[in-house]
Amino acid sequence: MPRPVSPVHARPGAGLFVSLEGIDGSGKSTQAGRLAQALVAAGHDVIQTREPGGSPGAEDIRRLLVSGAPDRWSAETEILLFTAARRDHLEKTILPGLARGAVVITDRFADSTRVYQGCARADLRQTVDALHDRLIGRDPDLTLIIDMDPHTALTRGLARQSGEDRFEERGLAFQTALRDGFLALARANPQRCRVIDGMRAEAAVAADILAAITPFLPQGSPA
Ligand SMILES: Nc1ncnc2c1ncn2[C@@H]1O[C@H](COP(=O)(O)OP(=O)(O)OP(=O)(O)O)[C@@H](O)[C@H]1O
Ligand SMILES: [Mg+2]
Repeated sequence: MPRPVSPVHARPGAGLFVSLEGIDGSGKSTQAGRLAQALVAAGHDVIQTREPGGSPGAEDIRRLLVSGAPDRWSAETEILLFTAARRDHLEKTILPGLARGAVVITDRFADSTRVYQGCARADLRQTVDALHDRLIGRDPDLTLIIDMDPHTALTRGLARQSGEDRFEERGLAFQTALRDGFLALARANPQRCRVIDGMRAEAAVAADILAAITPFLPQGSPA
C-alpha cells in the first residue's frame, strides 16, 4: 500500500510539479493534455510541458536526441544531452512556473532517464544519479506512472507515426523491461509516485489521474 501523500499545500505559493511517466505509447501526452485542460477549466494556473524539451534551448537539444539513427549517440553522450536539456527546462520553464504558483505538468522527466538508462546501460545508473544530484537536484512533487501492456502500447505508438521514432523502434522486450523499471521505481518512491492503469478508455484513465492529483492541489482548489 502507498504511504499517505505529503500535502504540497504545506508549501503555500510553491506551485505543484507533476510528471507523467510510462513506456512508449502508454498515453502520457494524451493524458497530459487532458489533465491540463481539466485543471485550467477548474481555474488553476497551469503550465504544460514535456521532455526532452520544454524550453526553446531544450527543444533544440530534443531535435538532436529524437531524430537520426538509433546509434547516433553513445549512451554517455545521450545522458549528457538529456541532462543539458533538463537543466535548461528546469531553469527556463519549470522553476519560474513553480515560483509563480502554477501547476507544472511535464510529459516525462528524470524518471524516464533513470528507467531507460537503467534498462539500456545499467552500468551508467550511478552516473545518471550523480548528474541528477549535481545539476538537476529536483524531482516532481507527484509522478503519475501510466502502466500498460507493452504490446498494446507499442501498437498504439507505432500507429501514430510521429516521425520522432528514434526511441520507438526498440521492440517488445525492451518495452517490457521499461515497464518493470517504472514499476520498480514506483515501489521505491511511494511518496511521490502513483501507478495508473493505462489499459482503459482515455476518460477512465483521466479520471484516475485527476483523483490522484487532487490531494496535492492547493487546499480549497477545485479539481
Ligand atoms: N486510453 C487510450 N486508449 C486507446 N488509445 C489511446 C489511449 N490513450 C492514448 N491513446 C492513443 O495511443 C497513441 C499513443 O498515445 P500518446 O501519444 O498519448 O502516448 P505517449 O505515452 O505520449 O507516447 P510516447 O512515449 O511515444 O510519447 C495515440 O495515438 C493516442 O491517441
Ligand atoms: Mg508522448
